[in-house]
Amino acid sequence: MSDATIEVYETEGRRFPPLPEFAEASLANDRSLYDEADADLETFWARQARELLTWDQDFGQVLDWQLPFAKWFIGGKLNVSYNCLDRHVEAGRGDKVAYHWEGEPGDTRTITYADLLDEVSRFANVLKGMGLEQGDRIAIYMPMIPELAIAMLACTRIGVAHSVIFGGFSPDAIVDRCDDASARMIITADAGFRRGAPSALKVNVDAALDAGAATVENVIVVNRCDTPVEMTDGRDHWWHEVVAAASPDCPPAPLDSEHLLYLLYTSGTTAKPKGIMHTTGGYLTQVAFTHKYVFDLKPETDVYWCAADIGWVTGHSYIVYGPLVNGCTSVMYEGTPDTPRESDRVGDDRSQWSKDRLWDIIERYGVTQLYTAPTAIRTFMKWGTAEVQRHDLSTLRVLGTVGEPINPEAWMWYHEHIGAGQTPIVDTWWQTETGGHMITPMPGVTTTKPGSACHTIPGVTAELVDDDGKVVTNGGGYLTISQPWPSMLRGIWGDPQRFQETYWSRFPGRYFAGDGARLDDDGYLWLLGRVDDVMNVSGHRISTAEIESGLVDHPAVAEAAVVGASDDTTGQAIVGYVILRGGNDASAELGEEIRQHVATKLGPIARPRSVFIVPDLPKTRSGKIMRRLLRDVAEGRGLGDTTTLADESVVEAIRAGAAAGDEN
Ligand code: PRX
Repeated sequence: MSDATIEVYETEGRRFPPLPEFAEASLANDRSLYDEADADLETFWARQARELLTWDQDFGQVLDWQLPFAKWFIGGKLNVSYNCLDRHVEAGRGDKVAYHWEGEPGDTRTITYADLLDEVSRFANVLKGMGLEQGDRIAIYMPMIPELAIAMLACTRIGVAHSVIFGGFSPDAIVDRCDDASARMIITADAGFRRGAPSALKVNVDAALDAGAATVENVIVVNRCDTPVEMTDGRDHWWHEVVAAASPDCPPAPLDSEHLLYLLYTSGTTAKPKGIMHTTGGYLTQVAFTHKYVFDLKPETDVYWCAADIGWVTGHSYIVYGPLVNGCTSVMYEGTPDTPRESDRVGDDRSQWSKDRLWDIIERYGVTQLYTAPTAIRTFMKWGTAEVQRHDLSTLRVLGTVGEPINPEAWMWYHEHIGAGQTPIVDTWWQTETGGHMITPMPGVTTTKPGSACHTIPGVTAELVDDDGKVVTNGGGYLTISQPWPSMLRGIWGDPQRFQETYWSRFPGRYFAGDGARLDDDGYLWLLGRVDDVMNVSGHRISTAEIESGLVDHPAVAEAAVVGASDDTTGQAIVGYVILRGGNDASAELGEEIRQHVATKLGPIARPRSVFIVPDLPKTRSGKIMRRLLRDVAEGRGLGDTTTLADESVVEAIRAGAAAGDEN
C-alpha cells in the first residue's frame, strides 16, 4: 500500500491530473492506525471500542470466532442510546445541535442532543407501556423525519430490536418482514413529503395488516402531512398523544455487547429477503470508528450530511448511529434533491422547478461533509453546473460516495464542481451485511485514484480469489473478507443455514461479498459490481428473482426472466422478459400493466424500466435461462457465443422484437 508515490495515472484510457492534496492535516494523517491494526487486529479494535464508546461493564475477551459465527467484546455491557445521547448531555453538550432537519416543503426543526434525549426517553416509555420487552422486534415504516431516528433510539434504550422498512416498499414487503421477525408493533406516519406531495404510508400498513402480519399488536402513527387516515380503535395510536402522556425519565438498559440491535432486510439471489442481524458493541465500535476517521470528523465544528434514506443501511450507520455516537451535528432532509421549497416553487410544472436543493442546503447550513451516491452524482452532472455555481460550497471538506462503483468521470465531476478541485473523495465500499465501511480511502493517508475505492480500512482484511479460491494479488477476482470484523452481520434472522450457505460456503473460511473486483499494479482495488443475480439500481440491491416472482404474479404472465442492464444514471436498470399465458395478446397496454403490477406488489423502486413480451426465453439444453444473452439484447450488444442454446432462433426473435421497438 505504498500509495504516496503515484502522481499521474491512466484509467479507462484517460489520463487524470495529479492527485488532490489535502489542505489541512487530517485525523489519520499518518499510517499509525494501519500499523497498529496490522500488528494485532484484536488489540486494535479493543482500543477503539474502549476509546470511542462508554461501557457499563468492560469486556474481557475481544473476539470469539467460531467460523462463521463471531462474537465481539465478550462480557461487555453498554447501551446504544446512552452512547448516542446521555453521555454528550452529561458532558455539557446538551445544547449542541444533533440534527438540522429540513422537510421537503421547507419547514425546519433544530433538534439538540438534550431535545433528542428527552424525546427518546419518552418514546421508550411508550414502548414499555405497550408491553414491549428486551429481545422483542418491531417494524418502523416512516418518512425521513426526526421521529424515525427517535423511534430507533428508543428501541435501543430498552433492548428492543428495530426492523426499518424503506418507505418506498409495498404492503407485501411489510407483511413478509413483520411475519419473518414476528414484529409486535409498527411505527409509521400518515404520509411523508416526496416530490412535492404527500406520499401515503399508513394505508400501506393498513393493507399489510389486513393481509397478514398477525403478530403486530399496536401501530403508532406520526401525523406528518395532515392527510386523512383511518385509525383502528385499540390498535392504532397517534404518536403525539401517547408521547405527551409519557414520562421523560427512562434509564438506559445495560445490554450485552452481542444483544440484537436491529434487523435490516436485504435482497439475495432468491425472492425471499434476508433479515440481516446486527448486534450492539461491535457494530457501534466500527460505525463510530469509520464515521470519525473516514469523514475526518471535527465534531466541535462540523456539519455533516449523509443524503441517504434511513430505510437503507447507509442511513442506519451514517445518519443515525455514527454521527450521534460521535456527538456531531448532522443535516437530515426529508425529500428529493429536485424538489424546491414550497415557497420557492413556481407553478406545478416540475420541469420548471429549480434543481439546486442540495447545494442550497449545503450553503445554508454550512455543510462540511457530503455523503451521497454515484447515481445522484450522475443526475447532478446531467442537470449541469449552473445550479451549482449559484451557491457557495466552500465549507465542504470531505466528499463521500457509496452504493455502487463510481465511474471516473463522475468522480472527477464531483471533485471539480462540488469539491472545488480541493476536497478529498472517499469512495466507500461496504454492504448491509458489513454494517460499516470496509474499503475506502482515508483522508490524509490515502492518495486517491478516481473510481477506485483504494484499500481496506485499518482492521479489515480483504482478498481477491479466483474460481478455485486461490488468492489473486493482481488482476480480477472475487472479493472476500478473510478475517472477522466488529460490525459484521451475526447471521440471517431465523436461518443460520442460509447464512452459512450464502456467505461462507463458496470459498471456505472466507466471507464472500458477491462482488467482483480488480487489483491494479499499485495494489488499488477497483470494484466491478455484483457477480451474482443481484442488480444494483440507484445503489439499491434488488434481486432478479424477486422481480421475476413479481412478474409471474401477474395473471397474464407464464414465465419471466429479469436482467440488470447498464444505465447511465441508475447504474443498472431492471429489464424484464415475459412469456404470456395462452389466451393473452401482447400489447403495449398489457406490458405497461405488468410493469405497474410489479411496482404495486414490490414498491415503486422495483418497477422495471422495460418489459419485453417475448415468444420464448433463451435456454441452455439443460433448461437454464441464459441471462447473459438477455443482457446483451437489453444493452443492444452483439450476442457472442450462442452455441449452448437449445434453440438459437429464440434470441433472434427477441432481438428482432427489441429492435422493432416492441418494448412495453
Ligand atoms: O455491490 C456492492 C455495492 O452495493 C452492494 C451493497 O449493497 P447494500 O447492502 O444495499 O449497501 C449499500 C450501501 C452500503 C455491494 O455488494 N456497493 C456499495 N458501495 C460500493 C459498491 N460498489 C462499488 N463501490 C462502492 N463504493
